[in-house]
Amino acid sequence: MVVGRPIPRIDAMEKVTGKARFADDVSFPGMLHAKVLRSTRASARILRLDVSKARTLDGVEVVITANDIPGKNACHVVEDDQPFLADGIVRYHGEAIAVVAARTRAIAEKAVSLIIVEYEDLPGVFHPIEAMNDDAHQVQEERNNIISHFRVVKGDAAKAMGTADIIVEGEYSTNYQEHAYIEPQGATVVPNADGSVTVYTTCQCPFYVQTGVAQGLGLPLAKVRIIQTVTGGGFGGKEDYPSLLSGFAGFAAVATGRPVKLIYTREEDLAVTSKRHPSVSRFRTGVMKDGTIVAQEVEYILDAGAYVTLTGVVLFRGNAHAIGAYDVPNVKVDSYGVLTNRVPCGAFRGFGSPQIIFAGETHMDAVADRLGMDPLELRRKNALGLGKRTMTDHLIEESCGFAECIDEATLASEWEAKRREYDAQPLDVHKRRGIGCATIYYGVGLGATGKVLDKSGALVQVHADGSVLVAVGTTDMGQGHKTVMAQFAAEELGIDVDRITVIEVDTALVPDSGPTVASRSTMMSGRAVMDGCRQIRERMAKLACQKLGCDEVEFAEGQVTPKSGGEGMAFDALSLQCWLELVHLAASGFFRTPATTWDEETGLGDVYVTYSWATDIVEVEVDMETGEVTVLSIVAAHDVGRAINPMAVEGQIEGGAVQGMGYAMMEDLVSENGVILNPGLNDYLIPTTKDAPAITPIIVEHPYSKGPHGAKGIGEPSLMAAPAAVTNAIAHAIGARVNDLPVTQERIVRAIKGR
Ligand code: MTE
Repeated sequence: MVVGRPIPRIDAMEKVTGKARFADDVSFPGMLHAKVLRSTRASARILRLDVSKARTLDGVEVVITANDIPGKNACHVVEDDQPFLADGIVRYHGEAIAVVAARTRAIAEKAVSLIIVEYEDLPGVFHPIEAMNDDAHQVQEERNNIISHFRVVKGDAAKAMGTADIIVEGEYSTNYQEHAYIEPQGATVVPNADGSVTVYTTCQCPFYVQTGVAQGLGLPLAKVRIIQTVTGGGFGGKEDYPSLLSGFAGFAAVATGRPVKLIYTREEDLAVTSKRHPSVSRFRTGVMKDGTIVAQEVEYILDAGAYVTLTGVVLFRGNAHAIGAYDVPNVKVDSYGVLTNRVPCGAFRGFGSPQIIFAGETHMDAVADRLGMDPLELRRKNALGLGKRTMTDHLIEESCGFAECIDEATLASEWEAKRREYDAQPLDVHKRRGIGCATIYYGVGLGATGKVLDKSGALVQVHADGSVLVAVGTTDMGQGHKTVMAQFAAEELGIDVDRITVIEVDTALVPDSGPTVASRSTMMSGRAVMDGCRQIRERMAKLACQKLGCDEVEFAEGQVTPKSGGEGMAFDALSLQCWLELVHLAASGFFRTPATTWDEETGLGDVYVTYSWATDIVEVEVDMETGEVTVLSIVAAHDVGRAINPMAVEGQIEGGAVQGMGYAMMEDLVSENGVILNPGLNDYLIPTTKDAPAITPIIVEHPYSKGPHGAKGIGEPSLMAAPAAVTNAIAHAIGARVNDLPVTQERIVRAIKGR
């Protein structure tokens, strides 16, 4: 079996030896370099835009403004509200106004500085709660600031609240999180003689880029080819934004007839590309003295920034996960996405659920505190499981290893002993320790509102020498997708992984496979690769049976042998024979998502195909004078269905936990009146290996019947429980709770003083 084995990344060597070609390594003869002019106001009318000096600067080939866009000046994501280039009005600080392409990057930068823009400032709105007021400044003139509203109504929360012994209320907030991928955003666009363009870009959703660029250039989709470059991290940040950036380079490429490269600086990337939505959540929970939760009411508000981008879909996921992994009979959730004059937000690992999970899991601890109950015991008591129904009334019928996750994490972390030990610490010591937990569930795939996109294609080609090429429509951005795809192909064809080559996505080779988000790629593309391999295997088997004089053969360990026993032939020998005898050795595999349901009025339904489950337990030490936190350990138990590559799964668990820890206590993007004040990795701090604690990843396997070999997803769930587990551990250590992320040293010291 190749599936289930801890195989090193098939692309590890090219990356660690520096041979991999990232977006900035792409180069063509005669290539120009682009730079973007950006708004210095968060909300203003453009009174004058004078590009004449920039156009005449030596070395400048073109200056593009909104008037020069050949197609529609709207970068399609979910809606068409975001212009590629501002046309008369700017709605956030850093919004693109013009694009310059010149012989060198330095000339392009100089030309940008020569462009004159005169503004008339308009009122602005910079907080989603303010933006919800009737008299708030309207960010987009033609529409209300509230751009999305989802709800869940299950049972009768108001009535059930009246029967509760205790009602606990809480308000929680989270700030931006920046993806901080290792490679900034960038693209090179090449105009072709037939009027088509080829886009080389670091991205996670090539088919979104295809749609965006085609619309901006006024080209049919078939004339826009996207080739993903080796991608140095995405984490959601390369879902929607590459469409905008590739559009900028595309306009200049088509206007000049020359390849144009546009690579963002780190500062530019941090200041203007999409972030995790800031949020405000309000929880009200009715609970009995024995810990049974009878009702929960939640209000969830996301700050979309100036344009819709992915807000509706991000919000949908948060809305559908608001109650967490618990069996609550009476639920009322209202979720709102709200425009502000701030940088547009987008996807980020977890997609709208980490914010609400932080709030809900912090709130769970507050409920446990009020009950005087062990927080893990409260979770166990209300935990979902087989035969129970989620907050959207989805009956869990299979693949639920939640109880095992809680038990394994409890055991590995020595929860009970440590909890007792830390409870007994004196209050006045210099350093206090705490241990905290959080649990999650996560709907794998795009869910009911994204089902038209939830499909995946694969091209598989077996060559005459027995080597195999696999192309899929979902991307590897560092999570190890290529290796897992190679494992599926190797397993189906009974050969070693080293025979398989998996290439970066090329939209000319595979059908639209939807986005690489929602931890869906293992499940979706895995099934598509298996489908393609099986088609070819059947054709190869037919010839093998003729040659070997048998009825059935099996493919294993590089050999094709009669099932009834006896001598077989090598896979590569059979491949050559198939080639000589004109057997079709290529196949297009396809997989479409299993069914989902959703009622818009009530929010109820089987909104996701299946769920991943997890429990994180974190131990911290807090300096009671300075508020400095050291995370000592993280135990993270995850039910992934089946671990196709346990080493990769452990890597995801570790990376996700550290990214979640950074979100909880370090990453603080400061924004004032819509201006990001610390757009640099020297001021915006993310955890490094030195900050990483001892992490114990625990893999729990409860296979999902429709997943490839039972696999579900791990990419995003790995992050999601960590933030609340960290902050709950801090609360346990200091004896006070901070409800706002990030839990900075200042906030901790304030909480200690206010105890
Ligand atoms: N891991 C690395 N190293 N780099 C990334 O960019 N992205 C995350 C996660 N893990 C990411 C990562 C996100 S946002 C998603 S949706 C999943 O990987 C996608 O991977 P999958 O669909 O293969 O699970």
